[in-house]
Amino acid sequence: MVNESVDGANRVNKIVKDLKSFSHINDEEYVIANLNDGLDSTINIVWNELKYKVTLKKEYNDIPLTKCNPGQLNQVFMNLLVNSSHAIKERGEIIIKTWEKENNIYISICDTGCGIAEKNLNRLFEPFFTTKDVGEGTGLGLSIAFDIIKKHKGEINVNSEIGKGTKFIIKIPVIN
Ligand SMILES: Nc1ncnc2c1ncn2[C@@H]1O[C@H](COP(=O)(O)OP(=O)(O)OP(=O)(O)O)[C@@H](O)[C@H]1O
Ligand SMILES: [Mg+2]
Repeated sequence: MVNESVDGANRVNKIVKDLKSFSHINDEEYVIANLNDGLDSTINIVWNELKYKVTLKKEYNDIPLTKCNPGQLNQVFMNLLVNSSHAIKERGEIIIKTWEKENNIYISICDTGCGIAEKNLNRLFEPFFTTKDVGEGTGLGLSIAFDIIKKHKGEINVNSEIGKGTKFIIKIPVIN
C-alpha cells in the first residue's frame, strides 16, 4: 500500500509539473526556454487523446534555447497535435521533429491522417474555418496558432495530401 501511495504521489507530482509548465497561457512574459522540453510537456498533457490510436515518434535534435512565451508555444503544439489526432481515424503515426538551421528553430509535426483538400489549404488559418461538425470544432485552433507564431516573428506552413497525411512546419528565429 505504501509503495502504491508513493507511486501515486509521484504521478501527481509529474502531472502538476506538466500542467504548470503548460499553462502560462496568459503570461505575456518572454523567458529563455527549450522548445524540446515544451513539446514533451505538451505531449504529456494530450497523451490521453493520442494513446489509443497514435504511434508517436520523436526526432528531436539539439536546438538552442530561445527567448519566447513557452505557454503560448505549448498551446500551438497542442492545437497541432489534437488536429493530427482528429485526422487519424483508427491508427496512425505522428512524427515530431525539431532542428536548427541558420539561427532558426524548426518544428515539424507530421501525421498519417486523412489529409486536407487543396481547396481548403489557404483557408486553414482563418478564424472559424472548420470542416468538423457543429459542436466538434470551433475552427479557432489554427488561427490562434498563426497569431502566436506571428508574435514570435516566425512562420507556420503546411503540406498535405488527401489520404496520405499532413505536415505542419513551424520556424521560429532564435532570440538570445
Ligand atoms: N492535421 C490535420 N489533418 C487534416 N485536417 C486538418 C489538420 N489540421 C487541421 N485540419 C483542418 O483544418 C481545419 C481547421 O483546424 P482548426 O484547428 O483551426 O479548427 P478545428 O480543429 O476544426 O476546431 P478547434 O481547433 O477550434 O477545435 C480543421 O477543421 C480540419 O479540416
Ligand atoms: Mg483544431
